[in-house]
Amino acid sequence: MLCDRFGRRIEYLRISVTDRCNLRCVYCLPATGVRWLPRQEILRFEEIREVVRIGATLGITRVRLTGGEPLIREGLAELVQMLASIPGVEDLSMTTNGVLLAQQAHRLARAGLTRANISLDTLDPDRFRRITRFGTIADVWAGIDAALDAGLFPVKLNVVVMRGVNDDEIVTLGRLTWDRPLHVRFIELMPIGEYFSREKLVPAEEILSRLSALGPLEPVTSPGGCGPARAYAWEGAAGTVGVIGAVTQAFCASCNRLRLTASGRLRPCLDETAAVDLLPAVRPAVDRAQLTGLFRQAVLSKPEQHTMAQREVGTPRFCMAGVGG
Ligand code: 5AD
Ligand code: SF4
Repeated sequence: MLCDRFGRRIEYLRISVTDRCNLRCVYCLPATGVRWLPRQEILRFEEIREVVRIGATLGITRVRLTGGEPLIREGLAELVQMLASIPGVEDLSMTTNGVLLAQQAHRLARAGLTRANISLDTLDPDRFRRITRFGTIADVWAGIDAALDAGLFPVKLNVVVMRGVNDDEIVTLGRLTWDRPLHVRFIELMPIGEYFSREKLVPAEEILSRLSALGPLEPVTSPGGCGPARAYAWEGAAGTVGVIGAVTQAFCASCNRLRLTASGRLRPCLDETAAVDLLPAVRPAVDRAQLTGLFRQAVLSKPEQHTMAQREVGTPRFCMAGVGG
């Protein structure tokens, strides 16, 4: 069992399988000049499997694959299969931008992926291109359809809300849940990277009250959730909406997670670059006792709280792509 200094049980591991991405969302990556990790520094599938195996013996039951963009990692379905067969791993999900999902959703589902979260910040094609700098929204919709078709339930859509950029679409995006079994999660813009400003942050309470304009919302249990979202539904709707008040409603007290970076560092907190390097325990050979010790060390170094609420500007030279959101 992994338990930290503040009594929190750690049972959720987010794994960045690559730091690379086929998009450059404004809140995540700079337009140019991104330096990717050299390939030999990225954990191999077998190495990731060993880390998850040890994690599972310590009580990790949920695993999420992230990036960068996980679907650009070649042969990802193989990794999914390897991880899905580890005893103790009950839930294996993925966070993706969806661009490449249409081609891979069924294969991933067959390999053992349980569900998918897909980023979609707008319904407008031009605005989508401005936010992601490269993306074509039709590809994402094809990916969402494929995820539903492949049974990757619940299919969640992640919306990062930015005032003056896409906050006028909160209601239209929420409305998607009326007709289709989609679960739209509105995420507060976090002060990570240089894009952030206080003015752009729309507090979760405001998001909720804007959604309520469409009709009364009932609190519901978040489908498939163990995370920080507070979920609601309109009567008769096929899906749910939710808010993730990462900044204004810090949910650190119920934080149940660790993050594994693409290069094999175990990060105790999204908001801190401090990490425990697992590489010496997996390369050139796996040392299970050492890995176990490093897991415990990472858990014990989890801070009580992040400090995002106090920050006026985003932390520079720190990017979400390396840690998968
Ligand atoms: N603030 C909030 N969410 C972010 N993400 C990336 N950068 C930020 C940020 N600055 C999230 C997006 C995306 C996921 C991979 O990471 O929701 O869906
Ligand atoms: Fe890529 Fe996701 Fe970052 Fe957008 S938010 S640039 S899709 S890693």
